[in-house]
Amino acid sequence: MTEADLYFLYRGVYVPKLIHTEASLDYFQNFTFRPQDVLIVTYPKSGTTWMQEVVPLIVSGGDPASVETIPNWDRVPWLEEVRASILNLEGRPSPRMLTTHFHYSMMPPSFFKAKPKVIYVMRNPKDVFTSIFHYSKMASFLVTPDSQSEFLQKFLDGKVIFGSWFDHVSGWLNADDKDRIMYISYEEMIMDLKDSVARISQFLEKTLDDEVISKIADRSLFKNMKQNNMSNYSAVPKEFMDQTKSQFLRKGISGDWKNQLTAAEADHFDAVYRDKIKDVQHKFVWD
Ligand code: A3P
Repeated sequence: MTEADLYFLYRGVYVPKLIHTEASLDYFQNFTFRPQDVLIVTYPKSGTTWMQEVVPLIVSGGDPASVETIPNWDRVPWLEEVRASILNLEGRPSPRMLTTHFHYSMMPPSFFKAKPKVIYVMRNPKDVFTSIFHYSKMASFLVTPDSQSEFLQKFLDGKVIFGSWFDHVSGWLNADDKDRIMYISYEEMIMDLKDSVARISQFLEKTLDDEVISKIADRSLFKNMKQNNMSNYSAVPKEFMDQTKSQFLRKGISGDWKNQLTAAEADHFDAVYRDKIKDVQHKFVWD
């Protein structure tokens, strides 16, 4: 199936039809944020599910029930997706935990007024590409790549779900109101998860003792999240996600692009990256 079959364009970016409708996008546009909300923002495959594990654990003071009793898509729901409107988010107590894959330029008016806290997670785009490539083969609501080279060109051109990685990252990094945004990378979390958890809890103004921080970091390790049926997507029917083709929690490492891209593809990626990211003043961990 093609992009025309599975996606529609919303403000210039592709969104999958199965989980987005005109009504769900209207809900997003009219959503009323609160200053106490915590919003996880990611380009897909950058560590969304991981952060959907870490944040509830921090907010609950380390209570494992916060991630073991409710699936990640309901505990920290995507605001633009169909499910958001049926979850009674208006009735949830603060701090509400929310997620979006949308670009900064697509955020609704209330986001700029209420100024909720944002945790923006970014990941080496070559690993994002690698992860999406495998994900696209197992998720029936995504276009299955014809070939790696064809899909790579689409990724670099932003003709994939949620548009261009480069636009997403530069838009959020150049946000006007950076003081309420915490920028963190997947690679920092890989390198030192405990330190990352400590910094995130500080940003969320949640004081936790060292032992609790260690427990949260341990609970959020890849191997432990893989065992959590509320986070490993095993509850999704095979017709939507066929984990026999590729697991949702696939490898959980940084640098897997080295096993995926040819030398020529990596060089081409680097050339496009250098050009598209040249105006962004940020020291990326992977540079
Ligand atoms: P891989 O496909 O490279 O393994 P998202 O949640 O944004 O869709 O991102 C999914 C990616 O994050 C997958 O990458 C997944 O394995 C990885 N991931 C999820 N939880 C993780 C964890 N606890 N540690 C490391 N990587 C994790």
